[in-house]
Amino acid sequence: MRRFITADEVRKAAREASGGEKAFIYAEKEDVVTDEARDMARTLGVVISSEITRRPCICANFKMNGGPGFMDKYAAELASCLAQFYPEYAAETDVVVAPPAPLVPVALALSNKKAIYSVAGQNCYIKESGAFTGEVSPYLLRECGADYVIIGHSERRKLFAETDALVAQKLKIAIDAGLTPIMCLGENIDDRKTAKTFAVIAQMLTALYSIPIEYSKKVILAYEPVWAIGTGMNASSEQIAEVCAFIRKNIMVKLGVDFSNAIRILYGGSVNETNALEIAVIKGIDGALVGGASLKAVNFAKIIAAFKTDARSN
Ligand code: 13P
Repeated sequence: MRRFITADEVRKAAREASGGEKAFIYAEKEDVVTDEARDMARTLGVVISSEITRRPCICANFKMNGGPGFMDKYAAELASCLAQFYPEYAAETDVVVAPPAPLVPVALALSNKKAIYSVAGQNCYIKESGAFTGEVSPYLLRECGADYVIIGHSERRKLFAETDALVAQKLKIAIDAGLTPIMCLGENIDDRKTAKTFAVIAQMLTALYSIPIEYSKKVILAYEPVWAIGTGMNASSEQIAEVCAFIRKNIMVKLGVDFSNAIRILYGGSVNETNALEIAVIKGIDGALVGGASLKAVNFAKIIAAFKTDARSN
């Protein structure tokens, strides 16, 4: 929905900007900035964004695939494909690779001090350390070089009975450990068929609202309809745009318009090198969480290139 940015909003942003920080108002391309607001912004030094301001994040989720030899070849191939398809990617996007946990340090070492990609864990536990056989501490992930962690993936919700309350706990400790969580949410096919998609999404968003706001600000969301994961049946642009708009509206009501405009929302579910561009231009979508197609470095590089600033603004 188109929004009007008024002089009052500009004054408020200027008042709320803390110590030396530049006041900033997030606006979508089609939002209308009134003349008075524009003048006021100039006077008060408030920046109003009317371009795509959210930096794309494209994350490969290897799930339970790959080993050291695979990782070795993958990193080299990804670097060479990106140099070919999108040499300036590092300045414009966040590229993340989430290998199985034991490969986190290996993946990091191969990324040449994060020059190729940053590394994510696929999950973490709700404690720093202790008698939790088989679990992975978010602090250890961080120590091993991860910058991100995927939280609440549908496979974990389904196969390991993860609840929204547990997801909220994981978000909080991951952030305490210095990780950026990528929180997954999405409806299953029965939810969609019975028109419960929005109710399910709203419920899953409660995890974001149950942590302190300074924490919520660090979260990246990934909308992954369960029926589109690993099925080769990606959601349509209309379906993705509709749920993305619902998420932003729900967040706007709970946490305010600035928050809702600033949070990054990725799409995941059968993203591949063929449909990536179609997904990259969906309004409000800021990247992709890619499973199967990310296992081929060349295809993952093509997906990243679909999020080129030029390609998306055409
Ligand atoms: P696919 O891309 O294989 O459908 O998996 C999506 C996913 O679950 C990423 O987290």
